[in-house]
Amino acid sequence: MKILVSDDIAQEGIDILNQEYQVDVKTKLSEDELVEIIGSYDALVVRSATKVTAKIMENSNLKVIGRAGVGVDNIDLEAATKKGILVVNAPEGNTTAASEHTIALLMALARNIPEAVRSLKNKVWDRKRFMGIELNGKTLGVVGLGRIGREVAKKAIGLGMNILAYDPYIIKQQVENIDIKVVDLDSVLKEADFITFHVPLTKSTYHMVGEKEFSMMKDGVMLINCARGGIIDEEALYEALKSGKVAGCALDVFEKEPPLESPLLDLPNLIATPHLGASTQEAQVSVAVDVAKDVIRALKGEMVKNP
Ligand code: NAD
Ligand code: MLT
Repeated sequence: MKILVSDDIAQEGIDILNQEYQVDVKTKLSEDELVEIIGSYDALVVRSATKVTAKIMENSNLKVIGRAGVGVDNIDLEAATKKGILVVNAPEGNTTAASEHTIALLMALARNIPEAVRSLKNKVWDRKRFMGIELNGKTLGVVGLGRIGREVAKKAIGLGMNILAYDPYIIKQQVENIDIKVVDLDSVLKEADFITFHVPLTKSTYHMVGEKEFSMMKDGVMLINCARGGIIDEEALYEALKSGKVAGCALDVFEKEPPLESPLLDLPNLIATPHLGASTQEAQVSVAVDVAKDVIRALKGEMVKNP
Protein backbone atom coordinates (compact mmCIF):
# COMPACT_ATOMS: atom_id res chain seq x y z
CA MET A 1 0.00 0.00 0.00
CA LYS A 2 1.21 3.52 -0.79
CA ILE A 3 0.14 6.79 0.80
CA LEU A 4 0.52 10.27 -0.66
CA VAL A 5 0.65 13.25 1.72
CA SER A 6 0.01 16.32 -0.44
CA ASP A 7 -0.04 19.12 2.17
CA ASP A 8 2.25 19.94 5.07
CA ILE A 9 1.21 17.93 8.11
CA ALA A 10 3.13 17.31 11.35
CA GLN A 11 5.97 14.78 11.13
CA GLU A 12 4.40 12.78 13.98
CA GLY A 13 1.53 11.81 11.65
CA ILE A 14 3.87 10.89 8.80
CA ASP A 15 5.92 8.71 11.18
CA ILE A 16 2.79 6.76 12.15
CA LEU A 17 1.89 6.19 8.49
CA ASN A 18 5.49 5.19 7.71
CA GLN A 19 5.49 2.47 10.35
CA GLU A 20 2.90 0.58 8.29
CA TYR A 21 3.13 1.71 4.66
CA GLN A 22 5.25 3.55 2.12
CA VAL A 23 4.65 7.31 2.33
CA ASP A 24 5.49 10.00 -0.22
CA VAL A 25 5.23 13.66 0.79
CA LYS A 26 4.71 15.87 -2.28
CA THR A 27 3.21 19.27 -1.60
CA LYS A 28 2.07 22.23 -3.74
CA LEU A 29 1.03 19.99 -6.64
CA SER A 30 -1.38 21.32 -9.26
CA GLU A 31 -4.59 19.42 -10.03
CA ASP A 32 -3.03 18.04 -13.24
CA GLU A 33 0.12 16.94 -11.43
CA LEU A 34 -2.01 15.12 -8.87
CA VAL A 35 -4.11 13.45 -11.58
CA GLU A 36 -0.91 12.20 -13.18
CA ILE A 37 0.51 10.51 -10.07
CA ILE A 38 -2.55 9.58 -7.99
CA GLY A 39 -3.04 6.22 -9.75
CA SER A 40 -0.26 4.59 -7.79
CA TYR A 41 -1.60 5.50 -4.34
CA ASP A 42 -4.11 3.80 -2.04
CA ALA A 43 -4.54 6.75 0.32
CA LEU A 44 -4.26 10.53 0.11
CA VAL A 45 -3.71 12.75 3.16
CA VAL A 46 -4.39 16.50 2.90
CA ARG A 47 -4.79 19.59 5.06
CA SER A 48 -6.71 22.45 3.38
CA ALA A 49 -4.50 23.54 0.47
CA THR A 50 -5.16 20.53 -1.76
CA LYS A 51 -8.57 20.66 -3.44
CA VAL A 52 -9.51 17.02 -3.90
CA THR A 53 -11.65 17.24 -7.04
CA ALA A 54 -13.69 14.64 -8.94
CA LYS A 55 -11.01 14.76 -11.67
CA ILE A 56 -8.33 13.69 -9.18
CA MET A 57 -10.46 10.83 -7.86
CA GLU A 58 -11.80 9.68 -11.26
CA ASN A 59 -8.99 7.39 -12.36
CA SER A 60 -7.52 6.79 -8.93
CA ASN A 61 -7.42 3.59 -6.89
CA LEU A 62 -7.81 5.53 -3.66
CA LYS A 63 -9.46 3.68 -0.80
CA VAL A 64 -9.33 6.52 1.69
CA ILE A 65 -8.75 10.28 1.84
CA GLY A 66 -7.64 11.69 5.21
CA ARG A 67 -8.17 15.35 6.14
CA ALA A 68 -5.82 16.61 8.88
CA GLY A 69 -8.39 19.01 10.32
CA VAL A 70 -12.16 19.53 10.60
CA GLY A 71 -13.56 21.08 7.41
CA VAL A 72 -13.96 18.70 4.47
CA ASP A 73 -15.16 21.41 2.07
CA ASN A 74 -11.92 21.02 0.07
CA ILE A 75 -12.92 17.44 -0.79
CA ASP A 76 -15.65 16.66 -3.34
CA LEU A 77 -17.63 14.35 -1.06
CA GLU A 78 -20.18 13.45 -3.72
CA ALA A 79 -17.45 12.28 -6.09
CA ALA A 80 -15.75 10.36 -3.28
CA THR A 81 -19.01 8.60 -2.40
CA LYS A 82 -19.61 7.69 -6.06
CA LYS A 83 -16.12 6.20 -6.27
CA GLY A 84 -16.54 4.38 -2.94
CA ILE A 85 -13.65 6.31 -1.38
CA LEU A 86 -13.88 6.70 2.39
CA VAL A 87 -13.21 10.22 3.73
CA VAL A 88 -11.95 10.59 7.31
CA ASN A 89 -11.12 13.80 9.18
CA ALA A 90 -9.68 14.87 12.55
CA PRO A 91 -12.49 16.84 14.18
CA GLU A 92 -11.17 17.15 17.74
CA GLY A 93 -7.49 18.05 17.59
CA ASN A 94 -7.80 21.72 16.72
CA THR A 95 -10.84 22.74 18.79
CA THR A 96 -8.71 24.43 21.47
CA ALA A 97 -6.48 26.17 18.92
CA ALA A 98 -9.38 27.54 16.87
CA SER A 99 -11.34 28.68 19.93
CA GLU A 100 -8.27 30.41 21.42
CA HIS A 101 -7.62 32.17 18.10
CA THR A 102 -11.24 33.34 18.04
CA ILE A 103 -10.87 34.85 21.52
CA ALA A 104 -7.58 36.47 20.48
CA LEU A 105 -9.36 38.11 17.53
CA LEU A 106 -12.29 39.16 19.73
CA MET A 107 -9.90 40.98 22.07
CA ALA A 108 -7.87 42.40 19.20
CA LEU A 109 -11.07 43.90 17.77
CA ALA A 110 -12.33 45.32 21.05
CA ARG A 111 -9.02 47.03 21.82
CA ASN A 112 -7.84 47.96 18.30
CA ILE A 113 -4.63 46.05 18.95
CA PRO A 114 -3.32 45.50 15.39
CA GLU A 115 -3.81 49.15 14.34
CA ALA A 116 -2.39 50.44 17.63
CA VAL A 117 0.71 48.27 17.20
CA ARG A 118 1.11 49.42 13.62
CA SER A 119 0.75 53.07 14.64
CA LEU A 120 3.34 52.89 17.42
CA LYS A 121 5.78 50.99 15.23
CA ASN A 122 5.43 53.92 12.82
CA LYS A 123 6.60 56.06 15.78
CA VAL A 124 3.15 57.59 16.47
CA TRP A 125 2.05 57.81 20.14
CA ASP A 126 -1.74 58.10 19.76
CA ARG A 127 -3.82 57.05 22.77
CA LYS A 128 -7.06 58.79 21.80
CA ARG A 129 -7.57 57.07 18.45
CA PHE A 130 -7.37 53.62 20.00
CA MET A 131 -9.98 53.93 22.74
CA GLY A 132 -11.49 50.45 23.04
CA ILE A 133 -14.59 48.80 24.48
CA GLU A 134 -14.90 46.18 27.22
CA LEU A 135 -16.10 42.65 26.60
CA ASN A 136 -17.44 42.31 30.13
CA GLY A 137 -21.24 42.60 30.09
CA LYS A 138 -21.49 42.58 26.28
CA THR A 139 -23.46 40.02 24.30
CA LEU A 140 -21.62 37.56 22.07
CA GLY A 141 -23.63 35.87 19.34
CA VAL A 142 -22.31 32.40 18.52
CA VAL A 143 -23.50 30.97 15.21
CA GLY A 144 -22.79 27.24 15.16
CA LEU A 145 -22.60 25.52 18.53
CA GLY A 146 -20.39 22.57 17.67
CA ARG A 147 -17.05 21.80 19.26
CA ILE A 148 -15.44 25.18 18.56
CA GLY A 149 -18.59 27.29 19.08
CA ARG A 150 -19.18 25.72 22.50
CA GLU A 151 -15.54 26.22 23.52
CA VAL A 152 -15.65 29.87 22.44
CA ALA A 153 -18.89 30.33 24.41
CA LYS A 154 -17.30 28.87 27.58
CA LYS A 155 -14.23 31.09 27.26
CA ALA A 156 -16.34 34.20 26.60
CA ILE A 157 -18.50 33.45 29.66
CA GLY A 158 -15.23 33.50 31.60
CA LEU A 159 -14.69 37.03 30.29
CA GLY A 160 -18.07 38.14 31.64
CA MET A 161 -19.94 38.03 28.31
CA ASN A 162 -23.55 36.97 27.81
CA ILE A 163 -24.03 34.35 25.10
CA LEU A 164 -26.82 34.17 22.52
CA ALA A 165 -26.39 31.21 20.21
CA TYR A 166 -27.94 29.82 17.04
CA ASP A 167 -27.64 26.23 15.84
CA PRO A 168 -30.72 24.48 14.49
CA TYR A 169 -29.13 21.04 14.83
CA ILE A 170 -27.88 21.23 18.39
CA ILE A 171 -29.05 18.64 20.89
CA LYS A 172 -30.19 20.17 24.22
CA GLN A 173 -27.93 17.92 26.31
CA GLN A 174 -24.84 19.25 24.51
CA VAL A 175 -25.36 22.74 25.92
CA GLU A 176 -27.30 22.23 29.14
CA ASN A 177 -24.22 22.80 31.30
CA ILE A 178 -23.23 26.02 29.56
CA ASP A 179 -24.87 29.31 30.52
CA ILE A 180 -26.11 30.27 27.06
CA LYS A 181 -29.43 31.18 25.49
CA VAL A 182 -30.19 29.31 22.26
CA VAL A 183 -32.33 31.50 20.00
CA ASP A 184 -33.11 31.93 16.29
CA LEU A 185 -30.64 33.52 13.87
CA ASP A 186 -32.58 36.80 13.62
CA SER A 187 -32.37 37.30 17.41
CA VAL A 188 -28.59 36.74 17.34
CA LEU A 189 -28.21 39.22 14.49
CA LYS A 190 -30.40 41.86 16.17
CA GLU A 191 -29.20 41.61 19.76
CA ALA A 192 -25.49 40.75 19.75
CA ASP A 193 -22.66 43.26 20.20
CA PHE A 194 -20.17 40.77 18.74
CA ILE A 195 -21.00 37.80 16.48
CA THR A 196 -18.69 34.86 15.85
CA PHE A 197 -19.25 32.12 13.24
CA HIS A 198 -18.45 28.44 13.77
CA VAL A 199 -20.44 26.62 11.10
CA PRO A 200 -19.06 24.44 8.31
CA LEU A 201 -19.16 25.79 4.75
CA THR A 202 -22.13 24.07 3.09
CA LYS A 203 -24.81 25.05 0.58
CA SER A 204 -26.94 26.31 3.50
CA THR A 205 -24.19 28.37 5.16
CA TYR A 206 -22.72 29.89 1.97
CA HIS A 207 -23.35 33.66 2.23
CA MET A 208 -25.60 33.16 5.24
CA VAL A 209 -24.60 36.72 6.15
CA GLY A 210 -25.15 39.34 3.44
CA GLU A 211 -26.67 42.77 2.96
CA LYS A 212 -30.03 41.82 4.56
CA GLU A 213 -28.40 40.27 7.63
CA PHE A 214 -26.06 43.27 8.10
CA SER A 215 -29.08 45.59 8.06
CA MET A 216 -30.59 43.66 10.97
CA MET A 217 -27.47 43.99 13.15
CA LYS A 218 -26.81 46.65 15.79
CA ASP A 219 -24.96 49.71 14.54
CA GLY A 220 -21.31 49.25 15.44
CA VAL A 221 -21.47 45.46 15.74
CA MET A 222 -18.17 43.53 15.51
CA LEU A 223 -17.79 40.21 13.71
CA ILE A 224 -15.34 37.32 13.77
CA ASN A 225 -15.08 34.55 11.20
CA CYS A 226 -12.63 31.84 12.15
CA ALA A 227 -14.63 29.13 10.37
CA ARG A 228 -14.68 29.38 6.56
CA GLY A 229 -14.54 32.01 3.87
CA GLY A 230 -17.84 32.16 2.00
CA ILE A 231 -20.02 32.17 5.12
CA ILE A 232 -20.01 35.99 5.09
CA ASP A 233 -20.58 37.66 1.71
CA GLU A 234 -17.31 39.60 1.36
CA GLU A 235 -18.71 42.29 -0.99
CA ALA A 236 -21.52 43.08 1.44
CA LEU A 237 -19.02 43.00 4.32
CA TYR A 238 -16.81 45.53 2.54
CA GLU A 239 -19.76 47.96 2.27
CA ALA A 240 -20.81 47.36 5.88
CA LEU A 241 -17.27 48.04 7.16
CA LYS A 242 -16.88 51.09 4.94
CA SER A 243 -20.15 52.62 6.15
CA GLY A 244 -19.34 51.86 9.79
CA LYS A 245 -22.49 49.74 10.22
CA VAL A 246 -20.02 47.02 11.17
CA ALA A 247 -17.42 48.74 13.35
CA GLY A 248 -14.86 45.99 13.00
CA CYS A 249 -14.42 42.52 11.63
CA ALA A 250 -11.73 39.89 12.14
CA LEU A 251 -11.32 37.28 9.42
CA ASP A 252 -9.07 34.24 9.62
CA VAL A 253 -10.59 32.71 6.49
CA PHE A 254 -11.50 34.01 3.04
CA GLU A 255 -13.54 32.96 0.02
CA LYS A 256 -10.36 32.83 -2.01
CA GLU A 257 -7.15 32.04 -0.13
CA PRO A 258 -4.76 33.75 -0.14
CA PRO A 259 -6.97 36.86 -0.49
CA LEU A 260 -4.16 39.06 -1.73
CA GLU A 261 -6.35 40.97 -4.21
CA SER A 262 -9.19 41.52 -1.73
CA PRO A 263 -10.09 45.19 -1.08
CA LEU A 264 -11.00 44.13 2.46
CA LEU A 265 -7.30 44.09 3.32
CA ASP A 266 -7.12 47.86 2.75
CA LEU A 267 -9.74 48.66 5.39
CA PRO A 268 -8.37 49.78 8.78
CA ASN A 269 -11.32 48.20 10.61
CA LEU A 270 -10.63 44.76 9.14
CA ILE A 271 -8.27 42.51 11.06
CA ALA A 272 -6.94 39.60 9.03
CA THR A 273 -4.90 36.51 9.82
CA PRO A 274 -3.82 33.92 7.21
CA HIS A 275 -5.98 30.91 8.20
CA LEU A 276 -4.15 30.43 11.50
CA GLY A 277 -7.05 29.03 13.56
CA ALA A 278 -5.53 25.55 13.80
CA SER A 279 -1.92 26.64 13.59
CA THR A 280 -0.54 25.67 16.96
CA GLN A 281 2.13 23.05 17.43
CA GLU A 282 -0.20 21.06 19.68
CA ALA A 283 -3.15 21.09 17.27
CA GLN A 284 -1.07 20.18 14.24
CA VAL A 285 0.48 17.17 16.00
CA SER A 286 -2.92 16.12 17.27
CA VAL A 287 -4.76 16.28 13.91
CA ALA A 288 -1.87 14.63 12.04
CA VAL A 289 -1.72 11.74 14.52
CA ASP A 290 -5.52 11.31 14.58
CA VAL A 291 -5.87 11.28 10.81
CA ALA A 292 -2.87 8.98 10.33
CA LYS A 293 -4.37 6.42 12.73
CA ASP A 294 -7.71 6.51 10.92
CA VAL A 295 -6.10 6.19 7.47
CA ILE A 296 -4.27 3.08 8.68
CA ARG A 297 -7.46 1.65 10.15
CA ALA A 298 -9.21 2.23 6.81
CA LEU A 299 -6.42 0.61 4.79
CA LYS A 300 -6.50 -2.40 7.10
CA GLY A 301 -10.27 -2.66 6.71
CA GLU A 302 -10.85 -1.85 10.37
CA MET A 303 -13.55 0.41 11.81
CA VAL A 304 -12.51 4.08 11.52
CA LYS A 305 -13.08 6.68 14.26
CA ASN A 306 -14.02 9.75 12.20
CA PRO A 307 -15.76 8.80 8.91
P1 NAD B 1 -18.58 20.99 14.45
O1 NAD B 1 -19.03 20.06 13.38
O2 NAD B 1 -18.28 20.44 15.80
O3 NAD B 1 -19.65 22.17 14.63
C1 NAD B 1 -20.31 22.80 13.57
C2 NAD B 1 -21.67 23.22 14.09
O4 NAD B 1 -22.31 24.01 13.09
C3 NAD B 1 -22.60 22.03 14.37
O5 NAD B 1 -23.07 22.08 15.71
C4 NAD B 1 -23.75 22.20 13.38
O6 NAD B 1 -24.99 21.80 13.91
C5 NAD B 1 -23.70 23.70 13.14
N1 NAD B 1 -24.34 24.11 11.89
C6 NAD B 1 -24.33 23.49 10.69
N2 NAD B 1 -25.04 24.20 9.79
C7 NAD B 1 -25.53 25.28 10.46
C8 NAD B 1 -26.36 26.37 10.09
N3 NAD B 1 -26.83 26.51 8.84
N4 NAD B 1 -26.64 27.30 11.02
C9 NAD B 1 -26.17 27.20 12.29
N5 NAD B 1 -25.40 26.15 12.71
C10 NAD B 1 -25.10 25.23 11.80
O7 NAD B 1 -17.30 21.71 13.87
P2 NAD B 1 -16.23 22.60 14.65
O8 NAD B 1 -15.09 21.75 15.05
O9 NAD B 1 -16.91 23.42 15.66
O10 NAD B 1 -15.69 23.52 13.44
C11 NAD B 1 -16.55 24.41 12.77
C12 NAD B 1 -15.90 24.87 11.47
O11 NAD B 1 -14.78 25.66 11.77
C13 NAD B 1 -15.33 23.71 10.63
O12 NAD B 1 -16.31 23.18 9.75
C14 NAD B 1 -14.21 24.36 9.87
O13 NAD B 1 -14.66 24.78 8.60
C15 NAD B 1 -13.86 25.57 10.70
N6 NAD B 1 -12.50 25.51 11.28
C16 NAD B 1 -11.62 26.49 10.95
C17 NAD B 1 -10.37 26.48 11.51
C18 NAD B 1 -9.38 27.54 11.14
O14 NAD B 1 -8.22 27.24 11.01
N7 NAD B 1 -9.78 28.78 10.99
C19 NAD B 1 -9.99 25.48 12.42
C20 NAD B 1 -10.91 24.50 12.73
C21 NAD B 1 -12.18 24.52 12.16
C1 MLT C 1 -9.93 22.97 9.67
O1 MLT C 1 -10.97 22.85 9.04
O2 MLT C 1 -9.53 22.09 10.47
C2 MLT C 1 -9.14 24.21 9.52
O3 MLT C 1 -9.39 24.89 8.37
C3 MLT C 1 -7.74 24.14 9.91
C4 MLT C 1 -6.76 23.67 8.90
O4 MLT C 1 -7.11 23.23 7.84
O5 MLT C 1 -5.59 23.72 9.22
